[in-house]
Amino acid sequence: MSENPQRITIQTPAKINLGLRVLSRRPDGYHEIETLFIAVSLFDVITIDRRSSGGAILTWEEGREDLNPGDFVVDESNLILRAVRRFENEIGRHVDVAIHLKKSIPVSAGLGGGSSDAAATLVGLRAILSELTGRLDIERLAADLGSDVPFFLGPPAAIGRGRGERLTPTVIDLTWYAILICPRVASPTPAVYSALDLTCLPKMPHFPARLEGDGFFAALALIHNDLQDVVERRVPQVLHWKNRLLTLGAEGAYVSGSGPSVFGVFRHKPDPTVLDSIRAEGVDVFVVRPLDTKSTMVIGLS
Ligand code: C5P
Repeated sequence: MSENPQRITIQTPAKINLGLRVLSRRPDGYHEIETLFIAVSLFDVITIDRRSSGGAILTWEEGREDLNPGDFVVDESNLILRAVRRFENEIGRHVDVAIHLKKSIPVSAGLGGGSSDAAATLVGLRAILSELTGRLDIERLAADLGSDVPFFLGPPAAIGRGRGERLTPTVIDLTWYAILICPRVASPTPAVYSALDLTCLPKMPHFPARLEGDGFFAALALIHNDLQDVVERRVPQVLHWKNRLLTLGAEGAYVSGSGPSVFGVFRHKPDPTVLDSIRAEGVDVFVVRPLDTKSTMVIGLS
């Protein structure tokens, strides 16, 4: 590894939420939640190259043939560019970098793809511009960018509290597979939270500190996403997919985050022909596994 790397490549994953409790509505408009974030084996790849001038530019390509290019927008609302601006603001100067994104995580799907990209951007900028940044606290910048962004800076399983940014790393069983189904329908997070009736939420037990072995599978029966009913009302096919996953033998099936993605947890590797039949109904579908690495991101410098 050279002292001043010119390029950094980061493979950064999607997350699923295995359960999400909404505890209260806060004066700042956010909700106090408790959720188990799990990074899974579906990745975007971000490459950042230093350049001598010209500021920051972002280009992207599809990592999968079936990603609808209209879904991904490159403007100042894009979380990668917002991460760059937040970083520039913090160090007090513009940065000259070319960022390229290979996008495989479905957009606006409840899988944290944008948050993962933003976290990787902060990690990449800090690594490649270390002479400008010193000991920059990117955790704080990450939390400013979005509630889910800090998770991607840490280990691949963590309980998120507060608005999701207060994290406690946790140990989970890693033997399972998930079928992840992503309907190509928007399910905007603010609309889902604001449609939630906090007076009639089921009481779910607090997440245990460890969820290993049979304890993991036993806990699946108790796990619930409080946003699920709202998402099912807004996107009726979510209920169809949840039931389909249960019929296929899932130990549990849940909406991830504010949806509309639905995943089913399986003890064994699902048969590929099952995926073909799901895909034929016009949704994106993946088999993913929980990451067994120390951190969510895989980083290469050159
Ligand atoms: O933090 P983030 O920008 O991802 O949040 C998007 C929106 O989702 C917030 O503006 C808020 O409406 C809603 N939200 C919430 N409570 C949370 C997380 C998000 O109400 N814990």
